[in-house]
Amino acid sequence: MVCGEGVYNFAAGPATLPPEVLERARASLSDWQGLGYSLLEAPFTGDEFKALMDITRLQVKTALAVPDRYQVIFLQGGASAQFSLVPLNLLPPKATAGYVETGHWSARALEEGRRYGNSHLAASTRKSGFDRVPAVSEWALSDDIHYCHITPNETANGVQFPEDPDCGEIPLIADMTSEFLSRAVDIERYGMIYAGTQKNLGPTGLVIAIIREDLLGQARPETPTVFNYQTQIEHQNHINTPLMFGIYLVHLMLDWLEEQGGVSAIHPHNIVQSEALYRIIDEDDFFYCPVMPEYRSIMNVCFGTRDESHQQRFLAEAEAMGLMNLAGHSHAGGLRASLYNAQPDAAVAALASFMTSFRKRYG
Ligand SMILES: Cc1ncc(COP(=O)(O)O)c(C=O)c1O
Repeated sequence: MVCGEGVYNFAAGPATLPPEVLERARASLSDWQGLGYSLLEAPFTGDEFKALMDITRLQVKTALAVPDRYQVIFLQGGASAQFSLVPLNLLPPKATAGYVETGHWSARALEEGRRYGNSHLAASTRKSGFDRVPAVSEWALSDDIHYCHITPNETANGVQFPEDPDCGEIPLIADMTSEFLSRAVDIERYGMIYAGTQKNLGPTGLVIAIIREDLLGQARPETPTVFNYQTQIEHQNHINTPLMFGIYLVHLMLDWLEEQGGVSAIHPHNIVQSEALYRIIDEDDFFYCPVMPEYRSIMNVCFGTRDESHQQRFLAEAEAMGLMNLAGHSHAGGLRASLYNAQPDAAVAALASFMTSFRKRYG
């Protein structure tokens, strides 16, 4: 069975993709652009692939209204690699970077950042169990902070920033992996945005980075050439073989997003889907959500049953009904329903109905 035939996938990434996009991707495997061979066999130096990269870069810029003074690049190694590559490219050896810790992934970014320089914890909600986003006024940001790193959507904890923070002159660096292209972004507030594409866009291992030009040119000499942002930009992402099929998938997903009306149309849709689940969670004491209402993620609904003994039964019964991959992240526990852009309304309706009936039977 595949999604759409009674199976719904709530995985946190890689995640559900639209069937029509998978179909278009499948077609490229036999004959890509009339070349007579597959995209998997096409040279990355060919005009066809160069044009695809240019179009995809432009699609990202258009979808998020990226101003001219920002560059868009495709990188490899997944989002975790950026935890090291950001300081290698943007943090001079003696400078200090600030980190806002709001959950598992920002903690990982901080831990890795500490290997490359002074990493200062600007704010953390660890003590309250990552239940909220601290207000910018609570962040300890001294004038010598070179940049401040945030994770606007914490995939494992279900915490999301309610708005793009304003840090004045301090460049904000954001790991937007699990919310990228789910909403409009005030790009000017950021020095750099990066996102692994395995949530809203499909491929694993691929990262899209949007970087303000004036931050380039500071890479440390030991930065690997293929991971040097400026060098990649100068060589139009052709310093080594790019993740060709992944970039093609991103292109198809950006076409699909445009067909849905772009981020301005998909965002309210995402809100409606997540609210349908939060409403059930809040109705009584059977389920709970550890995150304060105003900071709850619209992409990753993290919740649990108050009686922990119900959790395994919930997962087993859900799976038997075709509601797959609802276990929480291994570090956070509990349950999680990921509702990325491509999650169909029918999946949310099926899960909502299952949650209500489960509660009726065991509550
Ligand atoms: C917010 C966030 N950052 C980083 C990562 C790590 O991504 P990757 O596995 O591509 O390194 C994830 C993965 O789920 C994530 O959700």
